[in-house]
Amino acid sequence: MAEIVSSALPGSVTRRGFIKLAGCAAFGGAAAIALPDFAAAGKSDRVKPVLAPEAHFWEKVRQEFILDPDVVYLNIGTTGAMPRRVLENYAEYNRLAASRPRTFESELGASFGLPDQRAQLAAQFGCNADEICLSRNTTDGMDAILNGLDFNAGDEILLTHHEHIGALSPLNVLQDRYGVVLTEVEIPVLDVRNAIQFVERFAAKISGRTKAIVFSHITYKTGTRLPAKDLCRFARENGLISIVDGAHAPGMLKLDFHDMGCDFYAGAGHKWQCGPGCTGILYMRNHGENLPKFWAQNSSTYTFLAQPAGNLRGQYDIAYAMQYRGQANISAQLAMVDACNMWERIGRERIEAYVCGLSAHLKKALQKKFDGLGTFFCPDKPEFASGLTSFNPFADVTDGPRLTTFVQRLQDEYGYQARYTNFRLYQDDLEDTYAVRISTHLFHNRKQLDGLVAAMFDLYGQMGG
Ligand SMILES: Cc1ncc(COP(=O)(O)O)c(C=O)c1O
Repeated sequence: MAEIVSSALPGSVTRRGFIKLAGCAAFGGAAAIALPDFAAAGKSDRVKPVLAPEAHFWEKVRQEFILDPDVVYLNIGTTGAMPRRVLENYAEYNRLAASRPRTFESELGASFGLPDQRAQLAAQFGCNADEICLSRNTTDGMDAILNGLDFNAGDEILLTHHEHIGALSPLNVLQDRYGVVLTEVEIPVLDVRNAIQFVERFAAKISGRTKAIVFSHITYKTGTRLPAKDLCRFARENGLISIVDGAHAPGMLKLDFHDMGCDFYAGAGHKWQCGPGCTGILYMRNHGENLPKFWAQNSSTYTFLAQPAGNLRGQYDIAYAMQYRGQANISAQLAMVDACNMWERIGRERIEAYVCGLSAHLKKALQKKFDGLGTFFCPDKPEFASGLTSFNPFADVTDGPRLTTFVQRLQDEYGYQARYTNFRLYQDDLEDTYAVRISTHLFHNRKQLDGLVAAMFDLYGQMGG
């Protein structure tokens, strides 16, 4: 990364332009790398139209992935899989980094603070370039947000009873370090009906000391998609900071942060967006009313950007300030932007419709095969559904050993690699409920899911039903 030249403040950040060196023209800069042209896919007359045009299109997309054909990978919720071209670009960036460590960034158009890449992401995620930066992952983003805000003893934060440890850990630090009060809100699981239900659950817990709400856009435990826009409006109307754990949404859903109206949103680049490991996106609202005080304590540029502006929100580019946090894996970050650009070419709305269509198909197929037996923990209603399907075929949903064995055998004996989750179904439960969690993404097709359902039913029979 170009270094900070401390003699010239505050314009101390060297902003070397994009320099195309001889020998690099083949992939000169992230914007010029090779990515598949999906606009033409599905129209080619070189391939016989054996499949319907839409299925043919997704088959072409599927061919962009190098997933092990002997395994049906259904755990994107933990981590995704890089498409071939992204992987190749990533390798090329690393090769260049190894051969020309001092110049590869500028050769690839990665100026200090990644302004071009942030502008590309801003256009894709419905925000301004001074509101989005590339993070290491969701955990990193949640930590930066929660430890960057001003909280004092007695301040209260509301969170759902289905949050991930990536949010819970920094929240518990705030509790132990400053005496912040954490109040759990039970969200509906089996009886999801409408957005008001969720808002009312939060509203019932609000107090004079409440300062912020934290919720997952899509919970990792059940795959329930929360009504983010309604919850953010509720927060705004009550003067609360809205902090969204968006681990599962980028790359699965079409996102528009301004429309959502959240204050902060931490997402993964390595899950549904299928970038390399250790990549993510972090949105921090930087315009409009009531910008919360923020201490960019894990930013190497606080001294040069926030401090000269009196750390006044809206007076400096917070995304720029949060982009540089010491030496980064620039190759990985550029490859993640490549993955984002590939998604744009396919169409993010089209991906969302396909992914959610697959999970709807899976639910229907499970219902049919199991003849109504078993329990779904993910809602059926499209607006609350996602690419994560959670289901337990057994009558005793608290039988952990049985369900975890089921998931393991599904992988070992049938080649379907999903995962299990365990959670409190109701906030006061003393015993956890278990579910198989199945991630369906743009590289899957219905035939694979039908095979999965048949395998699950067969195994269910073998395990005594
Ligand atoms: C809801 C949620 N938040 C945070 C994380 C942590 O994600 P990351 O690996 O991107 O830090 C996960 C991981 O599965 C998750 O499901």
